[in-house]
Amino acid sequence: MNVNERLAFLRGEIERHNVCYYVRDAPLISDAEYDRLFAELQALEADHPELASASSPTQRVGAAPLAEFAPVAHARPMLSLNNAFSDEEIAAFDRRVREALAVDGDVAYSAEPKFDGLAVALLYENGVFVRGATRGDGAIGEDITANLRTLRTVPLHLLGARWPETIEVRGEVLMLRADFLRLNERQRELGEKEFVNPRNAAAGSLRQLDPRVTAQRPLRFFAYGIAADDGPFLPRAHCTVLQWLADWGFPVAREQRRVSGLAGLLAYYREIGERRAALAYAIDGVVYKVDDLRAQQQLGFASRAPRFAIAHKFPAEEAITEILEISVQVGRTGALTPVARLAPVFVGGVTVSNATLHNADEVQRKDLRVGDTVVVRRAGDVIPEVVRVLAEKRPRNAAEFVMPQSCPVCGSCIVRAEGEAVARCSGGLFCPAQRKQAVLHFASRRAMNIDGLGERLVEQLVEASIVRTPADLYRLAPPALAALERMAEKSANNLLTAIENSKRTTLARFIYALGMRNVGEATARDLARHFGRLQALLAADEAQLLRVPEVGPTVAQCIRQFCREAHNLEVIRELQEAGVTWDDSLPAPHTDTALAGKVFVLTGTLPSLTREAARQMIEAAGGKVSSSVSKKTDFVVAGGEAGSKLSKAESLGLTVIDESGLRQLLAPALPASSAEEERCSP
Ligand code: IVH
Repeated sequence: MNVNERLAFLRGEIERHNVCYYVRDAPLISDAEYDRLFAELQALEADHPELASASSPTQRVGAAPLAEFAPVAHARPMLSLNNAFSDEEIAAFDRRVREALAVDGDVAYSAEPKFDGLAVALLYENGVFVRGATRGDGAIGEDITANLRTLRTVPLHLLGARWPETIEVRGEVLMLRADFLRLNERQRELGEKEFVNPRNAAAGSLRQLDPRVTAQRPLRFFAYGIAADDGPFLPRAHCTVLQWLADWGFPVAREQRRVSGLAGLLAYYREIGERRAALAYAIDGVVYKVDDLRAQQQLGFASRAPRFAIAHKFPAEEAITEILEISVQVGRTGALTPVARLAPVFVGGVTVSNATLHNADEVQRKDLRVGDTVVVRRAGDVIPEVVRVLAEKRPRNAAEFVMPQSCPVCGSCIVRAEGEAVARCSGGLFCPAQRKQAVLHFASRRAMNIDGLGERLVEQLVEASIVRTPADLYRLAPPALAALERMAEKSANNLLTAIENSKRTTLARFIYALGMRNVGEATARDLARHFGRLQALLAADEAQLLRVPEVGPTVAQCIRQFCREAHNLEVIRELQEAGVTWDDSLPAPHTDTALAGKVFVLTGTLPSLTREAARQMIEAAGGKVSSSVSKKTDFVVAGGEAGSKLSKAESLGLTVIDESGLRQLLAPALPASSAEEERCSP
């Protein structure tokens, strides 16, 4: 096989396995085998840049950013569908179809979910994906080829051997609900804006000028039709088109079905309506299409919509209610969130009486006021939101909402960092609201997993000043608990056992439990894996933190800030003293490094390390810290305003270093989990 053939083989194989994995949920090879093929292709392409191809699977990471999207004129307009909301409207549709086709009996329809995403058109020439566009106004869309290439569910080459020379595949780009929730969790961790619902998240991710951003977002494509010239390859029925699309490697809705007559349509509507909440993606109705393609042609179009298809929408998950109050909640990191207290209303299958208003800007943008009548929406399992105000119903004296100037819980001042949408209480753990949230977070299932330590209990413990920091939990004794409301002896004992059991944990959970801003579960795991030891993490400087995959400047800064606070280090020490341990397989203590047993003395103020942090760092590298200078001292680490210890060191001719000297000295000895780090150290 020559290089060209091998490239073509690898690209084809990888695409085929992509489809098996991402589209069909039925991988044929192990991840390791897949990785091997991928690595071989990457290496081959690196050796032969002249054979590069935009439709190689290696190019899915996202190309360079664009200045703007180019316009695309759709060869066939992307039309919309007429909507129906009642059985009667569907009966009328079916009657019109039968009359126009002069059919006596039942018509066969393709019934499908109506995806709530963004319509796109994918153009394939000779089986190769060459262009992808948004719907735009139906006639002209935007060229988002580079973004669509990053979606694993968009085949770069069609599978199989038979396809029309030119074919446009139409469908919808969306985000699965589970992916949406995970993305928002990630956004939260990174301090980035959260998306309101899966549709907005998909739209925001797809219309990115930087395809590398799109590549990071969990978008999926689902095909629902084609636009092609008549040709020898085209089937007779829409259901067959969908089958072909699946064979070519496109995801097609599993719920799609061929049904017969009005009764078939209505039964399908009821069935999907019942399953709607459990579907992996959001849908806003179902679509019925006359199955026979010739009949479709015969029926044709009326103005902007086809006569052969109709959307049967589900009742809107919206309701109208009144804002009784706008209160402000203080979260774990001090973030103030305005929350609308609503007159309870039934929407999307549940009773809603609160809706987050996100932040002050959002309240202002929507101009929400107490007393307003508002439209509330709840989409699937997504948090309820206030969509808009019915301005005509506003009471005359409704006052504009203003964010409080000081924390509503502890009175500390409120700060809003530049460029941030969120205002925060500056009280830290002085603020009981933050303290409660910090303790709740610490105890939560994915952190220290203290069963039975719920919201009400934490509230009582914090309010009675029995618990000020998470470390206080390990000092709880039966008498203190017995004094609490509704605390029977048995539940007190259960709680104490749960607290005791939580002492054995993992480093990743412990880091997560500490509740550093922007350090969520995934980041905590990365940090634990990278540093191996808590001390190494606490002592790491920004550059070292930035070497952790997925840790960017914001996260690094938050970690540094946390580790600089003496009271945080104090809480950690107390927790460890109380017996909190983890048994991750730690790298062996550094008895074999050049620094094993070396004696350090710290003097003066170091620019960025506290004494405690420097001590922990030295110990993690196998050294010892002593408080007095003698001939046995190996290194004196001197910071600003160092006094007599420095003069003594100089008179004894000892090695004096500063903070950066210390870091250089320790770098090779601290646990490094990647070869990269080894290389970086001097
Ligand atoms: S067929 C000629 N099938 O609904 C119209 N559209 O109102 C062909 N949509 O933005 C559309 N799911 O993207 C069709 N299973 C489905 C659909 C679907 C969602 C969207 C479509 C368009 C809108 C039309």
